[in-house]
This record gives sequence, structure tokens and C-alpha cells, in this order.
Amino acid sequence: MLVVETKNEVRSLVDSWREAGERVALVPTMGALHEGHLSLVDVVRAHATRVVATIFVNPLQFAPGEDFDTYPRDFEGDLSKLKKRGCDACFTPERASLFADDFSTTVSVAGVGENHCALTRPHFFDGVATIVTKLLMITRPDIAVFGEKDFQQLAVIRRFVRDLDIDVEIVGAPIVRESDGLAMSSRNLYLSGSERAAAPALFKALSAAADAARNALWADIGVQVEADLRAAGFSKVDYVHLVDRDSLVDIDRADRPARILAAAWMGETRLIDNVAAGPTRND
Ligand code: PAF
Repeated sequence: MLVVETKNEVRSLVDSWREAGERVALVPTMGALHEGHLSLVDVVRAHATRVVATIFVNPLQFAPGEDFDTYPRDFEGDLSKLKKRGCDACFTPERASLFADDFSTTVSVAGVGENHCALTRPHFFDGVATIVTKLLMITRPDIAVFGEKDFQQLAVIRRFVRDLDIDVEIVGAPIVRESDGLAMSSRNLYLSGSERAAAPALFKALSAAADAARNALWADIGVQVEADLRAAGFSKVDYVHLVDRDSLVDIDRADRPARILAAAWMGETRLIDNVAAGPTRND
């Protein structure tokens, strides 16, 4: 696997592959790779002949006081996992090479980029949209893949790619879960033993809510989910919302393809998860 640090190197590499008729996929990550990230490599392998991962802990998507400094980093371990998984290259830019001292541009997505996670992390989607735009412009892949665990992030990326006419196909990859249902996340490393034992309650509560949403109004179910999460040990529930699967607009019954999105705190760790709801729940 080639490890490339500069924008020019990665661009020449991708250009040369594309000129040779290869189809190139991008797998953007912030490192601390787990099976969820590695499954993204497998998912795009089906659509591409070359896979380029990126590892960059993006400062733009962390607010002051969030976990940028302590975000787990395991650079050598990540490279070895990507290599074993059959990645062709990994782009590992330095912060200074991406941001000029007077960097002053933000990509901001209204609508799907508002509400839900943006309610408590208002900086987050602008930070993601700006860095993903840059990574797409630098590497110019045919296709890029993002996990459905960050369901709102995926919707935001699809929206700005469409709105800005960026010539790339965006693919969503299914959530990968631990055997007890907890969605894989680099931040699961922050959980203590007892927190880790309690954390799968999030997926259980959302799955039960998706079943209940077949026959009841969300207003009643949502209140119950929040109560269940608190009873299971979650200290704070940022939100639990039933939304239209495509627009992410809140809805009051699951009478169309829908998603239940949630963010809740287990001690000091904020966990997010989501499940399908509505007519396509078991598709
Ligand atoms: O999902 C992530 O890991 C990050 O938000 C992303 C898409 C790599 C942008 O920094």
C-alpha cells in the first residue's frame, strides 16, 4: 500500500489510475480504524478497481472543548489494517498543507445540515462538508463511501455533492455492530467497562421504537425511548427523532421510508445511532 502525504502526490496517483482506465474509490476517515471503517473498503471494492483511504483528524469538525486533542490516534495500526484489507493507497495530509494561515472558506448545507446533531454541535456539519469537499477536490475519485452510522453526515455530503455539481458518486455503507448491537465507533474506546456494558441499550431502544412506530404516533414513542435510555444509564439524551429517510425532516408517523436518529451521552461519551423505520424497515 502506498502512503502519500502531499496533495500533488495523491492527485498524480489518482489521475494516473484514472487515465489507465481504473475506477478509483475514496474512503475518508479520521483514523482509529475499526471494523466499521474497514467494511467501507470492502463496500467500495465492489464498485472500484482502486481504493484510496484518507486519515486526517479534521479540526474543523470539533468545537473548542470537544475531544480533538484526545481523539484516539493509532497511525501505524491504521496503516497496517488498511494494507491487510487491500487498500491501494492512504493519503495522510499534514494539517498545514490543507489549511493556509488565512484559510477562510466554509461549505455549509442548510436543511439536512440543520436540526438533529446540529442542534448541539452547530459547527460539526460545516466542518465535515468543508473537509470532505477539499478531499474530493484533491483526490478527484470516481466514488466515495461513508457509513450510515453518521446518517445525517451522509445526507449532508450527498446534498452538497449534488448542489455543487461535484463529479463523484456517493455510496452509503451499512452500520457495523458489535455482537451485542452497539454500533462500532472510535469513541467507544472512551467507555468504561460498566458504560460499555450499558451502551447497547441505545440500539435496543431504537429497534423497539422502530417496531412501535408501525402503529403509534411518534410523540408517544419518543418520550418512551428517552425514558428507556435514562433508565438504562444514559446521562443525557441530545435527541431521538423520527425523520423522513431522504429529507431528514421530522415526521409524526412512520408511514413512508423513515429513520430514527439519536444521540445520547453515556457518562462523558456522546454516542449516536440510527435504525430504519417505516415500510422499508425490513427490506
Ligand atoms: O466520518 C468521519 O470519520 C469524518 O466525519 C469524515 C467524513 C472522515 C470527515 O472528517
